[in-house]
Amino acid sequence: MQRVEHEIQRLIKEIDYDEVTRLFDMLSGGKRLRAKLILKIAPEQKNAPLLAAIVELIHGASLLHDDVIDEALTRRGVASVNATDGSKTAVMLGDVLYSKAFSELVQFDKEIAKSIASSVTSLSCGEMQDVKMAEEFNEDEDKYLKMLYLKTATLIEAAAYASALLAGKNAHSYGIYGKNLGLSFQIIDDILDITSDSTTLGKPAMNDFVEGKCTLPYIHLYKELNKEDKQRLKNSHAKSISEEEVLWIKAKMKEHKSIEKSYELAQTLSNEAMLAVKDDVELIEILKTMIKRSY
Ligand code: FPP
Ligand code: MG
Repeated sequence: MQRVEHEIQRLIKEIDYDEVTRLFDMLSGGKRLRAKLILKIAPEQKNAPLLAAIVELIHGASLLHDDVIDEALTRRGVASVNATDGSKTAVMLGDVLYSKAFSELVQFDKEIAKSIASSVTSLSCGEMQDVKMAEEFNEDEDKYLKMLYLKTATLIEAAAYASALLAGKNAHSYGIYGKNLGLSFQIIDDILDITSDSTTLGKPAMNDFVEGKCTLPYIHLYKELNKEDKQRLKNSHAKSISEEEVLWIKAKMKEHKSIEKSYELAQTLSNEAMLAVKDDVELIEILKTMIKRSY
């Protein structure tokens, strides 16, 4: 991973603008899941750390834009760039990072470059769907999962697919692994938004619902509630929520096993991912750590 950090620093330095370096240094790197995946799939490939750095820059750029869209004040436990330096700066820093990533991507084979580049179109469309869906209470699980696939899983799928191509491995199987890992990862993220406290998360807990996002546990819960309680849940949607309502939602989720049901789907998807790369012990380890994570 040191090689990836080194590549990231090199690319930032190449941009050659102090303000970008200053802002970039203030960001927290996060879990670097995508980079770890690339290195595990293509450990011997000379260009793998560069590919990993590219994907992390794209991911970082998407989060900068996402925090502007979500008006989020914190990211990974530190103040977001839009909070410290304003939304204009956050958008522009995102533009710098992902355009730099794209100019490095052209060094790779066409199929590798295309898979990463087109996943960015997908994740941008996924983000648009996420924003649109948050305008109303969404109870459609399929629609939700399709949006998750675009918003979160496509870049992870492309990272796995592209690194497998780089290493001369079966890109299709690794792509399936990445897709299911990505979906499972996001479902765990949705669960943690409800079950973890804000210090562990680095952002306010139950923030998704406040932002209007009806994640899987809410969709499961809604299905089980009676007419009156359905309305009560809907009344709390997309607004700041009282402690009493938080406790009510949590109690209802406990009663109807909404978290367990969501966790089951994450587990099923994770098993699908394992099947796709059944001999790759290290990739199975990534899945296990991800599913057990608490932040
Ligand atoms: C986080 O979702 C957001 C994403 C995974 C994707 C965001 C994508 C864009 C803003 C498209 C623009 C792309 C580029 C490359 C500039 P979340 O809000 O559910 O998660 P969070 O709780 O981590 O904020
Ligand atoms: Mg967000």
